Amino acid sequence: MTKPFVVIHTHTSLDGKIKTVKSPRFKTTSQQYQDIALTPDAQFYDIDGYLNGRTTSEDNNEMQALDLDESVEVPEGDFVAQGNADMYYVSIDRRGVLGWTTNTIHYGNRPAHIIEVLSEKATNGYKAFLREIEISYIVAGSEELDNVLILNKLQSLFGMNRIMIGGGGVLNWSFLQAGLVDEVSIVMGPFADGDPENPSLFSASEPFSTPEAITFDLIDAKPIEDSAVWLRYRPLTN
Ligand SMILES: NC(=O)c1ccc[n+]([C@@H]2O[C@H](COP(=O)([O-])OP(=O)(O)OC[C@H]3O[C@@H](n4cnc5c(N)ncnc54)[C@H](OP(=O)(O)O)[C@@H]3O)[C@@H](O)[C@H]2O)c1
Repeated sequence: MTKPFVVIHTHTSLDGKIKTVKSPRFKTTSQQYQDIALTPDAQFYDIDGYLNGRTTSEDNNEMQALDLDESVEVPEGDFVAQGNADMYYVSIDRRGVLGWTTNTIHYGNRPAHIIEVLSEKATNGYKAFLREIEISYIVAGSEELDNVLILNKLQSLFGMNRIMIGGGGVLNWSFLQAGLVDEVSIVMGPFADGDPENPSLFSASEPFSTPEAITFDLIDAKPIEDSAVWLRYRPLTN
């Protein structure tokens, strides 16, 4: 089986930060970022779905407090609630803690069916909750997640051949350091706020990854609307 094509696609400030900056141009470049990823007729990468880290899912979606029944039995293995979605939102949540309220994300006007990526540490109670609200899940690792297995299962169970890593920085760096990324795409907006608490495009974090120098070749650099640029790089790790 060949590996799916993987692109990290991110909207950053001039200083490579990924959280919202209160600039009048943030909204315009955010829209350009969404267009390149998702908007029909404008999108560039033809992705089947995008991956987000647990922090990003929590920051951007309404969640409910969970009251799980841990005495419940669930079948072994993975659960495919929807195998032919137009778009997938893949939630990296090894411990199984996110209290989703729906099985669909509407980001970028492109409904996306949620797939939770769990380790074997996630409980039966959590899996039963996902089954109940018809969120798909895959189990990809005993304690820590196996990024290669994640890509293999997304491809074999959901037909995902072109995958975007949507961030944040911790997730981005873990896939990049594992040599699984074919391209890095950055929509860089003309703003910065110097906030040292604002996370970066790439962030090494144990046990997922470590700091290490990685080098890139430029594929393309394009000025886009409102003084933003779209940068495309190929990592020299694979
Ligand atoms: N500008 C943009 O384009 C953009 C895009 C996405 C996100 N963001 C922003 O970025 C911020 C969050 O970024 P972040 O870097 O702090 O966090 P993140 O990457 O979204 O999430 C980090 C968490 O995800 C899980 N995780 C990540 N990589 C993993 C791996 N390889 N294996 C297993 N679990 C993994 C871990 O959760 P557990 O420890 O719970 O297992 C980890 O603590 C948010 O504010 C979000 O809004 C911006």
